[in-house]
This record gives sequence, structure tokens and C-alpha cells, in this order.
Amino acid sequence: MLGAGAEALAIAVSRAGGLGSFPAAGSTPDQLLESVRAIRAATSAPFAINLFIIDPCMPDPQVVRAAISRLAHWRARYGLPAQSPPAIWAQDFAAQFEAVLEAAPHFASFTFGCLTAEQARDLHKRGSRIIGTATCVEEALAWQAAGADAICAQGIEAGGHRGSFLTQDEDLGTLALVCAIKAACALPVIAAGGIMDGGAMAKALAHGAQAVQIGTAFLLADEATTSAPWRAAIAQVGPDSTRMTRVFSGRRARGIENAFMIEMREHERDIPAYPIQNALTQDLRAAAARSGGADCMSLWAGQGVQLARPGAAGDIAHAMWSDAQNLSSTTS
Ligand SMILES: Cc1cc2nc3c(=O)[nH]c(=O)nc-3n(C[C@H](O)[C@H](O)[C@H](O)COP(=O)(O)O)c2cc1C
Repeated sequence: MLGAGAEALAIAVSRAGGLGSFPAAGSTPDQLLESVRAIRAATSAPFAINLFIIDPCMPDPQVVRAAISRLAHWRARYGLPAQSPPAIWAQDFAAQFEAVLEAAPHFASFTFGCLTAEQARDLHKRGSRIIGTATCVEEALAWQAAGADAICAQGIEAGGHRGSFLTQDEDLGTLALVCAIKAACALPVIAAGGIMDGGAMAKALAHGAQAVQIGTAFLLADEATTSAPWRAAIAQVGPDSTRMTRVFSGRRARGIENAFMIEMREHERDIPAYPIQNALTQDLRAAAARSGGADCMSLWAGQGVQLARPGAAGDIAHAMWSDAQNLSSTTS
């Protein structure tokens, strides 16, 4: 979970017997390798490294100027100076991928795109297994053709960014997506989205998922890097508090609705694609977080966020797993 989890959360989950995942999308290759060293120093358990597959971007200056002007009054509110385009729009995926090859983690997982068959072969040669994120059957089949070892089926309930890369307006719920991908694809399926307790975990496994991927249920974990205003917003949510939005990053993502999302909604269609809008809102979001301004932070969270509970990540993982096992044994 980029922005909400770093090495400590991945280590805690891996130590507890899960597959901890380190979000490396924002890391330079050197930072990625350093994080892998830190995880290996703390645990010999398997872990995953996660990257966003994005192409280098060369935005149209006019589009950038328009995006900057839409953000100007928000920047003024947080005392930020007039904005200039950033030196880089995003980390270079090709260089990050080389670092993942060098690090050779047990698992490498990807979202926002699909590897080439050659890239998949290179990872396999290094002994890494590949997890590809899919939000529809076509994307799962693309990952299967590329040589993935498992599919992360990301349902519409999931918090954070959609992993979509062949379509942008899919909306299948997690269980329906797991069943559809199982029917079309021979690979193991990992259910992601709305899994907040042992009951949901047991249900996903009963629908044919081989594993589950959990984000939102760890947002209040001791080891999560979720900022104080984000945690406070989570503590106050009602049952239907999240919305899908492009306004923070230019890519559809689910988060707790706030003033920025509501006010910027009229520009949804004009906002430049990821990573342009993401880079342009970065220091605004950081300034808001520093001053406790949850009104313009990206409060990524899934539909089940009301069920997030504080505690040690290992305890959260153990409790969910033992509840799921108890439920499975009482229903079988
Ligand atoms: C705060 C946050 C950050 C996320 N960051 C990433 C990420 O860096 N890479 C990724 O593949 N998925 C990311 N996701 C999506 C999760 O991998 C997963 O699909 C989702 O959390 C599952 O649904 P849930 O949030 O209902 O548990 C993120 C989710 C959240 C809530």
C-alpha cells in the first residue's frame, strides 16, 4: 500500500505467516534495493515487491498549465507557492524493474499494466513468482498469456487505485470477478477488495480464490504509515463513505470522500491521466497531511473501511485467518 505501508508492515505480515508486500512504486532503484535489504535483515519469510507498470510520460504543456490552474486556489489555501511542473513525473519503471530482477524477491506483483512475456521470463529466471492485477477477465487473460503465476482479482470494493489497463470503467465486485476469472483462466486467483474479516476471507476462499489480498483492514495497524489525519478520518467514517475518483491522481481510485473530491468532481473528465495529476497534487496532499487538513488528502480506503481496527498487523492477520478457518470448518 503505497503511502500507507512500508517495510515495517510488510515485515509484520510476512512474520505472521502472510505474504507481506512492499509498495515500491515511489522508490528509486537504489531505494528499492535498500528496502529489500531491510526486509531480508528482519525476516527470512517470503515477501513481495509491488510496482506500478507505467510508460514514460511527456505531457502536453497546455494540459499541464490547465491542471496547475485548477489546483491554484487549493495551494494558496495551504500556503504553497505557485506551481511549476515537477522535474520528473514518476519513477522510471524500466529502471525499477531492473532493480526487482537484481533483488529477486520471492514474489513480484504488478498493477496498472501487464509485463511482456520476456520480462516475465527474466523474473522467472531469477526465481521470482509473478502476480498480475486484473479488474476484468480480459486483463486476467493478458496476464496469463504473459506468463504470470497468479492473478490478483481486484473488485470494485477495493481501496486505492484500480489496477485496470485494458478498460477503465469495469465495475465487478470481488466475488463476481473471482468467479468470472476462475471460469476463464487456469491460474490461481487472489481475491482483493472488501475483505475486512474472517467471514469475508472464508467466503472468497469458498468462491474459489486461493488466497486473499488485504489493504484497508491494515490501514489502522500499528505498523502502517497512515498519517494522523487519515487515521482520524477512518475513525469517523459511516457505512458508505468512499467514492471512486480521478481527481487526485488521474487514475480511478477509491477513497473516503472529502471536500477536494466533491469540489473537483466537475473536472473529472478534464484531469490529466496518471502520473501527471498525481505528480501535480503531490506537495498539496503532503502539505494538507502536515497541517491536519483531511479535506484535500487522498484518503484511500475500500468500501469496508468502517470495519478497520487498530492493533499490531500480525494480530490482525492472525485473527482474520483463525476466524476464517473456524467459519470454514463449521460450514463444511
Ligand atoms: C492505501 C492503499 C494503498 C494501496 N496501494 C497499492 C499499491 O501500491 N500497489 C497495489 O498493487 N495496490 C495498492 N492498493 C490496492 C490493494 O493492493 C488491494 O487491491 C486493495 O487494498 C484490496 O481491497 P481492500 O482495500 O478492500 O482490502 C492500495 C490500497 C490502499 C487502500
